Amino acid sequence: MRIMAVAGKGGVGKSVLALNFAVCLAKSGYRVVAMDGNLALGNLDVLIRAEPKVHLGHVIFGNSSLKDIMFKGPHGLKVIPASSGILEMAGLGDEQLKRLGLDLLRLANETDYLMIDCGPGLTRTVLYFLGLAHQVIMVAVPEPSAMLDAYAIIKNVVRISPKKDVQLVVNMVEDTVEGTSVYRQINGVAKKFLNREISHLGNVRWDENLRRSVQTKALVVVHFPKTDATLDITAIAIKVCGTIRVAVEPLTAWVN
Ligand SMILES: Nc1ncnc2c1ncn2[C@@H]1O[C@H](COP(=O)(O)OP(=O)(O)OP(=O)(O)O)[C@@H](O)[C@H]1O
Ligand SMILES: [Mg+2]
Repeated sequence: MRIMAVAGKGGVGKSVLALNFAVCLAKSGYRVVAMDGNLALGNLDVLIRAEPKVHLGHVIFGNSSLKDIMFKGPHGLKVIPASSGILEMAGLGDEQLKRLGLDLLRLANETDYLMIDCGPGLTRTVLYFLGLAHQVIMVAVPEPSAMLDAYAIIKNVVRISPKKDVQLVVNMVEDTVEGTSVYRQINGVAKKFLNREISHLGNVRWDENLRRSVQTKALVVVHFPKTDATLDITAIAIKVCGTIRVAVEPLTAWVN
């Protein structure tokens, strides 16, 4: 069981990357849950053309469990949708977050990977999810503001959990050289001011097919198997789980 949380500045591609990573892992036979951590303005469901009737608001403010609201996405991926437009979900208190965290830990025990797609930037909720995760995946793009935000979030994560595994994905790059340069700059600042190194999980190239797949509510790794972004995302997924394998035992007992 491994909890991963994806964070970074708004609009850098956290949700598309989190979902596509999750589907890569699910396709390989792992039991994977993707949770929309953008609690008040969720959109993971929209990215896969789903229209769930219940969401995390029903868990926090109602009697539903995480399993009650979870729905099946592509390739057996399970998705936990967030609310859309419920203001109270934007500022959950410590007790509410703690209760959700305990539920997530219980659920994570029955899965191989629980992927939390955090909301944009740095909030108490984002920091709570990053604290919960075994592995923090920061997403940045080759723009100064996104790089600065990535560093600022890393700084807070490291302050709370000095040993946390923090990794960087550079999205929307032109090529490897550009991705490596962004990684070196962020890692350089982290080394200098936090005395910490972060690792470079990989780059995802800017890809028109990825943009197109978002517009048609499809997943790039499913609908464009050979395009640049799919190759890059798959390489990262392979790195995340060591070797992508096909499950040997049936997963039907786990799937509702
Ligand atoms: N590698 C890429 N190539 C081309 N376009 C991309 C790429 N990655 C992301 N995008 C575009 O960026 C948009 C924003 O992506 P996404 O919604 O995943 O960002 P986000 O970080 O989750 O945003 P928010 O902070 O609002 O949750 C996508 O709709 C897509 O069009
Ligand atoms: Mg998002």
